[in-house]
Amino acid sequence: MNFFLILSSFSTIFFIFANAASFSYPIESRNKLKTVSQPFDDFYDDYYLLKVDVGTPAQSFRLSLDTASSFLWVLDINCVSKDCHGTSDYDKKSTYNFSDSSTFVKGAGTFVAQFDGQPISGYLGKESVSFGGLTLKNQDFGSAQVLPQLYVDLPIDGVIGFGLPAMAVNGTRTPLDGLLPMLDQQMFSVWMDRKVDTSRGGPGGLVTFGAMDTVNCFADVNWVPLTVKSYWGFDLDGFKVASYERKNKEKVISDTGSGWIGAPPAVISAIVKATGAKYAWNWEI
Ligand SMILES: *[C@@H]1O[C@H](CO)[C@@H](O)[C@H](O)[C@H]1NC(C)=O
Ligand SMILES: *[C@@H]1O[C@H](CO)[C@@H](O)[C@H](O)[C@H]1NC(C)=O
Repeated sequence: MNFFLILSSFSTIFFIFANAASFSYPIESRNKLKTVSQPFDDFYDDYYLLKVDVGTPAQSFRLSLDTASSFLWVLDINCVSKDCHGTSDYDKKSTYNFSDSSTFVKGAGTFVAQFDGQPISGYLGKESVSFGGLTLKNQDFGSAQVLPQLYVDLPIDGVIGFGLPAMAVNGTRTPLDGLLPMLDQQMFSVWMDRKVDTSRGGPGGLVTFGAMDTVNCFADVNWVPLTVKSYWGFDLDGFKVASYERKNKEKVISDTGSGWIGAPPAVISAIVKATGAKYAWNWEI
């Protein structure tokens, strides 16, 4: 299986492409293949949340669209951590109750996944998962019952990870494993919109499954082979920001789960200096 990442215009727009030449799952017959797009919401340029339905009848969640993990998890109705249920209407969370779904199938036991480097755990299951008019049947997922205190002030109900199968949690079938065989072309593209003001849930961009987003993204694409095949990782030859230019070869990842650019302190300081940006110590950004 070969995966490529295509970059078009740094900073605002990029494509992600998966070319699964020898895919291990049966591909749907040609006439059933699809291309779909779905907008997502931007919260503080930090999280980009996609509406995803899980179960039958559908239980609706706002999941972080994350290319740096390969697992789908939602908050469980019996989640014991303080942050599972939110504190006000604004950050109220949706939680999953398997007893309310006719398509829930019990999984092999418990899962342990990472969220921002901290462990999340719960039980494994299989469910009908729908977004953008596509339905992944019997998709492996986790219902989280224990999680760190991380995002109590945001209406995040979990994560949908479009990372590569090498990062699968507990040997589960990843969302991409379920998704790619259903698509016209085995690719997806993510367009991240540019917002200057702080966004508390406004439109943040569009994810397109099965094709490139030719409406929002530039036509001139630059193909880059992946060098880290768990994350969408690739080598950068160098980059330029205002008057600052760096020509070192670096390993980088393209991660929709974090809306910021992270780099060693010396590089960040040089970018800050060149752009006149201010460092917010309390946020570490
Ligand atoms: C989950 O759903 C079942 C069936 O509707 C219900 O009896 C149960 O009380 C729900 N669980 C919680 C914690 O609300
Ligand atoms: C999943 O992995 C965690 C540790 O990584 C382990 O504690 C758990 O038992 C595993 N679950 C299954 C179903 O193998």
